[in-house]
Amino acid sequence: MSDTCKKVYITTPIYYVNDVPHIGHAYTTIIADTLARYSRMAGMDVFFLTGTDEHGQKIEQAAKARGKSPQEYADEISDRFKQLWDEFEISYDKFIRTTDADHMKGVQKAFEVMYNNGDIYKDVYRGHYCVSCETFFTETQLVDDEFCPECGRSTTIVEEESYFFRLSKYQDKLLEWYESHPESILPKSKRNEVINFVKNGLDDLSITRTSFDWGVKLPESINDPKHVMYVWLDALMNYVTALGYGDDEARMDYWPAKVHLIGKDILRFHAIYWPAFLMSLGLELPQHVAAHGWWTRNGEKMSKSKGNVVNPKEIADAYGLENFRYFMLREVPFGQDGDFSQRALIDRINSDLGNDLGNLLNRIIGMSGKYFDFNVKSDGIKTYHADELAEVNAILANVEEYLYEIQTNRYLEELWKTLRIANKAIDTGMPWTKMKEGKEDEAMATIALVANILAKVAVLLHPFMPKTTQKLAKALGFEVNHESYVKLIKNNELLETFTIEKIPPLFPRIEEQLLETPAVKEEKKEEKKIKKQEAKKENKSEESGVNLITIDQFFQTQLKVGTVIEAEEVPKSKKLLKLQVDLGEEKPRQIIAGIKEWYSPEDLKNTQVCVVANLKPAKLMGMVSEGMLLAAKDDEGLCLIRPEKPRKPGSAIG
Ligand code: ME8
Ligand code: MG
Repeated sequence: MSDTCKKVYITTPIYYVNDVPHIGHAYTTIIADTLARYSRMAGMDVFFLTGTDEHGQKIEQAAKARGKSPQEYADEISDRFKQLWDEFEISYDKFIRTTDADHMKGVQKAFEVMYNNGDIYKDVYRGHYCVSCETFFTETQLVDDEFCPECGRSTTIVEEESYFFRLSKYQDKLLEWYESHPESILPKSKRNEVINFVKNGLDDLSITRTSFDWGVKLPESINDPKHVMYVWLDALMNYVTALGYGDDEARMDYWPAKVHLIGKDILRFHAIYWPAFLMSLGLELPQHVAAHGWWTRNGEKMSKSKGNVVNPKEIADAYGLENFRYFMLREVPFGQDGDFSQRALIDRINSDLGNDLGNLLNRIIGMSGKYFDFNVKSDGIKTYHADELAEVNAILANVEEYLYEIQTNRYLEELWKTLRIANKAIDTGMPWTKMKEGKEDEAMATIALVANILAKVAVLLHPFMPKTTQKLAKALGFEVNHESYVKLIKNNELLETFTIEKIPPLFPRIEEQLLETPAVKEEKKEEKKIKKQEAKKENKSEESGVNLITIDQFFQTQLKVGTVIEAEEVPKSKKLLKLQVDLGEEKPRQIIAGIKEWYSPEDLKNTQVCVVANLKPAKLMGMVSEGMLLAAKDDEGLCLIRPEKPRKPGSAIG
């Protein structure tokens, strides 16, 4: 993606104020902040928007439950979000609230425009509504005819007079847009999902409610005071009302957005409804809608509604805000889910940051001090390290693309490749030997190469770790800013000289036992539980053969042949695999099996196993297991018991 536009508009979702922020929200916001910081450093004119989504039935209910007015309640929680972003030094330019008067005015204006151009009409709505998701579902979308396909809660049947938006009219135009803009939806794999959804046909969208009050009223020109606007119409409009749409239009020159960052849970709204609304309003469409995956906790989606949230403030306080930022953006490929574990976070800090980056700086501080009184000159690099330098420049020339495709993990991996080149240059160049051999120029060249790589990395890492990289830059005697960005990155130049400064370690090693946050305790408890369950199983097998049982007792255990149709690793677990096993029943069974040490998912797919089929379901790492595999274990390891010849899934054993 190239950057011809100088104005860059970046947004996060506006968060519901039905509860306090968690790391999922922090993740979206930190990605957006990183992009905003990068774009500013690169000299673009950035407008970065975040805020809160405060209307709708869900908020009205949450307020009521706490004996507050919706406005009081919204004020309180909105402030918590704002405070957290301020503590996290999120560099937003505007924090919008959907209860802001100018926002509401803009939404009414938009409604009027769409109404006047014939895209809105009045009718009666019948449908199944999920209050928690603020979404209507068709009968076919419901789970077991009643439950919300998104969150599993029961839905209610709603029948009311409603205004509709002619979404169906935009089906073809939307498809054209996806086709002609391959990067409209990121990651690209998500684009196909959206295209298929739209190809299946779009119904017109109900966009007003009469069953509650807490929302934006229709414009006066329409004069229908019973109705308030559907929260999603209200909420999506924030992206343009924040720029003054329908009011003073003060910042509309930032439109269209470079990127709307969102979680995959709200992709449909941003990739289908929002562009259709924009087309109806005659506004340009955003360059990218980028949807990231979910942070899970022991395999389950983390969410305010579920109450299994990790508090981002607690993590940032314990491990350092910038380390946390690095972790989130490095750990998970954009678009995929990631299980949050503090062990993984500690590993990233100690290994990537401490070993790869921090130690490299220490080596440079040490050697430059010892051999050159902290003064380093770069003029020998081209003679002694031209190849390494070319390699580094080639890698760094391509990283910006990854960033704007929101592949932050790839971006960081590339930076770390250059650190490996630097470390290797020291190990093979051995400046200490060169000094003994009187080859001072060569030793100097190696140290200067590494100092320059560190300087370039400091610049490119700056948007991720703003303060840490300034400390790193200071140790090298320069400052990260637009000028150093242009020099070191855009123009591929070197810093000619360095005055190195000794600084305390940037990433002191984190010893795990120091930190006992509630989340660490929970992780440990979960591990103990698994160990106990396993120990129990083993004891039982040792005891076997002692008690005689009757044939009836034996047949109390239902054993069946099953075919493994899916197998995958349980993230962060050394032992567990998650299988979907066909037992000839309506739905495959999910079985969590402790066999990862001996079998890979590929070994298992499309093979048959023997399953204890009437075991009470159990939970392992938060996931339900609906059966157990038969296996035998001795000193050589474990092997599964399988039928000698394939049998129909569900065939009884015994
Ligand atoms: O949907 N992992 O607000 P919301 C990763 N108001 N990200 C997560 C997450 C998780 N477990 N849980 C939430 C709304 N998020 C609407 C948006 S925009 C016009 C209106 C992040 O408070 C993710 O970005 O439910 C998700 O899209 C957003 O929080 C939803 O926040
Ligand atoms: Mg949500």
